[in-house]
Amino acid sequence: MQDTIGFCQETRPESCGFILFGATGHLSSGKIIPALFGLYKKKLTPKDFYFLFVARTAIELADFEERLTAAISGTESKPALPEIKGFLERVEYIRADYGNDDFYRRLARRLDELDAKFNIRKKRLFYLATPPSAFEPITEKLKTSGLLVDPGNRTGWSRVIIEKPYGSSLESAYSLDTGLKQAVSEGQIYRIDHFTGKETVQNVLALRAANSVFDETWNNGFIDHVQITVFEELGLEGRAGFFEHMGLARDMMSHIFQLAAITAMDLPASFRDMDFKSEKKRFFESITGLDKESVSRQVVRAQYEGYLKEPGVAAASTTETFLAFKFHVDNDRWRGVPFYVRAGKKMGAKKTKIDLIYKKPAHGIFKPMDIGYPNVFSFTIQPEETMAFTLIAKHPGPKLCFTPRKMELNYRVHQEELSAPTEYERLLIEAMAGDQTLFLSSFEMRFIWAFISPMLETWTWDSGSAPLLGYPGGSEGPAEARALIEKDGRKWLSPIL
Ligand code: BG6
Repeated sequence: MQDTIGFCQETRPESCGFILFGATGHLSSGKIIPALFGLYKKKLTPKDFYFLFVARTAIELADFEERLTAAISGTESKPALPEIKGFLERVEYIRADYGNDDFYRRLARRLDELDAKFNIRKKRLFYLATPPSAFEPITEKLKTSGLLVDPGNRTGWSRVIIEKPYGSSLESAYSLDTGLKQAVSEGQIYRIDHFTGKETVQNVLALRAANSVFDETWNNGFIDHVQITVFEELGLEGRAGFFEHMGLARDMMSHIFQLAAITAMDLPASFRDMDFKSEKKRFFESITGLDKESVSRQVVRAQYEGYLKEPGVAAASTTETFLAFKFHVDNDRWRGVPFYVRAGKKMGAKKTKIDLIYKKPAHGIFKPMDIGYPNVFSFTIQPEETMAFTLIAKHPGPKLCFTPRKMELNYRVHQEELSAPTEYERLLIEAMAGDQTLFLSSFEMRFIWAFISPMLETWTWDSGSAPLLGYPGGSEGPAEARALIEKDGRKWLSPIL
């Protein structure tokens, strides 16, 4: 039987129309449509709702329904036919020509009809699952065709969801952001980072907030250093077109910093939007940025062997598929505690993990000898979902021997816990509810670009000082990644621990 849940805070989605641009693309079929279906199946959709799918590809309705069925059949349990039928009754498809005013007029008419049919009053969530170059032109057209309701309007609302890449450089990201804001205000923009929707990521904050016994020790008085590991087993999987222009730094940095923030930011006064965001902002503001010199000293980039033979990859590509780096947080809590990060593709196994490594004993009987780090608090985010604390205990037996032990907690055990909303489902609920807590602010997006920029510049203009290394698939990255932490007298924890 499940234990009593003490305190619950629920986000309820508001009735709305959900308009998906780029509905035939990878992101839509891989993530968004299955998430919409998941919400429908789990009865987590708002009271009144409809989904309008928009794409440039001309397809027959029957064909589109077949695609939809294929997209949602990939979800964990095979959906039953009536479920699919019920879902499809809420879905419409409309062919788009994003640059054409006529299309927006047609769209406006259709939305009004759908609003009337489903009893929704101009409450619309636009998801732009399109290339970023289309974000600005689409929002501008939505605005000029009167499809965006001004913030503060009492009868309706408009929200726009976008997903990285937000540009390809600091400059292009700033210009994209500024351009977007000509049509929509910050309070209407929902920038997705799907890591924030992961149950286990949210659990880190919940654990800290509710159990001060841990958080009280998460500071430079107790913690020696922090390790963040984001390993993926997969390589490119046919995504060369996307990844070749991104590289690991652009692709994963937002995820990495979301993990860092929920682990290390000061706890907000509440989990409400503004409290949470301003505390997160303060954390990011405390991170010491890199310069050219620190890029060559504390960043390691590498590419897996065989990457150049992947379909669609340029013969002399220098795109990095692995990154290890160290950063510092210059605030009272973390001053002097290094954060080590390693992330890569083709690492042999998937593992996303945060480890807080406590200091070695400074007094007492163990002071004269090196017993390693006796206490480590680990959150495994995926694929397992666990929390663990290692400690030293006496080894049973006649002698006084000390041995490392681990207390481990499985995060998801009960059946209803297994069917909790997925990351995209959760984030869609939040956006439908108008809660931006889990979405990236303009500040965060800009911070991430400012952090990456010196890396990208050094790699482009002075690649000799930060060479691209190689590593065999299935390894833990190049030897230089080991050296990065070992030169500080520390070691990476085994990713499988
Ligand atoms: C995406 C990246 O944002 O995150 C992918 O574009 C990466 O390259 C993926 O594979 C990892 O997400 P997850 O949830 O599978 O760990």
